[in-house]
Amino acid sequence: MCKDKAIPFARPFIGPEEEAAVLRVLRSGWLTTGQEALAFEAEFTRFLEGSNETSPILRSLTVNSATSGLHLALEACGIGAGDLVLVPAYTFVSTAEVVRYLHGEVVFVDTAPSTFHIDPKALEATLAQLSRGEAAYPKPHSPGSFGPRGVPKAVIPVHYGGLPCAMDAIMDIARRYGLKVIEDAAHAFPSQLSNGTWAGTIGDLGVFSFYATKTLTTGEGGMVVSRDPEIASRIALMRSHGIDRSVWNRYTDTQASWYYAVVAAGYKYNMPDLLAALGRVQLTRAWELLEMRKKIAAAYDAAFQDEVHFSLPPTGPGDARHLYPLRLNLERLSITRDAFIEKIQAAGVGVSVHFIPLHSMPYYRDRYGLREADLPESMGNFQRVISLPLWPGMQDAQVERVIQVVKTIAQEHSCA
Ligand SMILES: Cc1ncc(COP(=O)(O)O)c(C=O)c1O
Repeated sequence: MCKDKAIPFARPFIGPEEEAAVLRVLRSGWLTTGQEALAFEAEFTRFLEGSNETSPILRSLTVNSATSGLHLALEACGIGAGDLVLVPAYTFVSTAEVVRYLHGEVVFVDTAPSTFHIDPKALEATLAQLSRGEAAYPKPHSPGSFGPRGVPKAVIPVHYGGLPCAMDAIMDIARRYGLKVIEDAAHAFPSQLSNGTWAGTIGDLGVFSFYATKTLTTGEGGMVVSRDPEIASRIALMRSHGIDRSVWNRYTDTQASWYYAVVAAGYKYNMPDLLAALGRVQLTRAWELLEMRKKIAAAYDAAFQDEVHFSLPPTGPGDARHLYPLRLNLERLSITRDAFIEKIQAAGVGVSVHFIPLHSMPYYRDRYGLREADLPESMGNFQRVISLPLWPGMQDAQVERVIQVVKTIAQEHSCA
């Protein structure tokens, strides 16, 4: 395959407006967090609130990644050593690792059948088990491993692929069990529930990712949103070394800009203005980018819906269409998923797999003594899924080529 004909898995949509914004910051003499980051936060809030500002007001806080945003979110919710946090096994590692940063324990929950989302029924069953004093994983399978037990403190639903989770059911369960809800909205900008509410604004906090492949990108970056003023203030403090300038202002009437007071052991998780400027332009394109993604996803849906070899990804009207996770009906094919991927790649089409379930990863598997079969729905999804290229700016001919490559491989290995 000629290099110029290859179709990448993802590609950011960067135009002259983004270039001009970055150049403006480069020439301004101020590269790190400043006015651009503040403006990006205000504009992000305005995007989500529109003209119907609700009370309490949503606060948006820029961070240097969604991973840091999730870490700050858990810290602000008071998660500490030994606290249990419920996390879907079917997610990227960031969602779970942040629990371990704070020495909490991860309790994995399986995916709901035929979806990629945390299963509210499995969530409730796990919580009931824990409330009876039982361990989360009753039969650890390896020596030295253990099943966490104790009081669960939080749940992190993931809006996988940009499709919002069943938030009504999750919020109901979380409130009954006294859990904080941190929405991992890394894939979900802009995603809406059927009542028009934005994914990321329903729980106690929401965390968006602006990583290079995401629906809005700053290369690396993220945004944390919350309507809880205490949580938002804690995040603002902890993303910047635990430095509180207001402490100094309270005790002095001089404007000593060089002085600062450290009131907690914080982190360096701020977003520089160079990236915020990029994000501000991308935000103005949010609808345009979404329409481009929807068009590509609709073309895939139309091409694959009547094929016995595939199952379409679940979707809905408010889906941000970050991913197109096509599932292979392996019982109709004489080829494995891995071999299928090799053939797609050999034809010059970039693909990926979202995700390898976390309970099968050596660190979590060994810590909690888990087997792959312990979370069967997550494993079932993983074994047959392929994420197809889906990025704004993809040409019709490229979409057609992906379809043709995928269909041809399936036909050549059909046992339907
Ligand atoms: C579900 C999910 N959560 C969190 C993250 C972390 O995002 P970031 O790369 O901005 O830290 C990712 C990254 O891809 C993700 O897929």
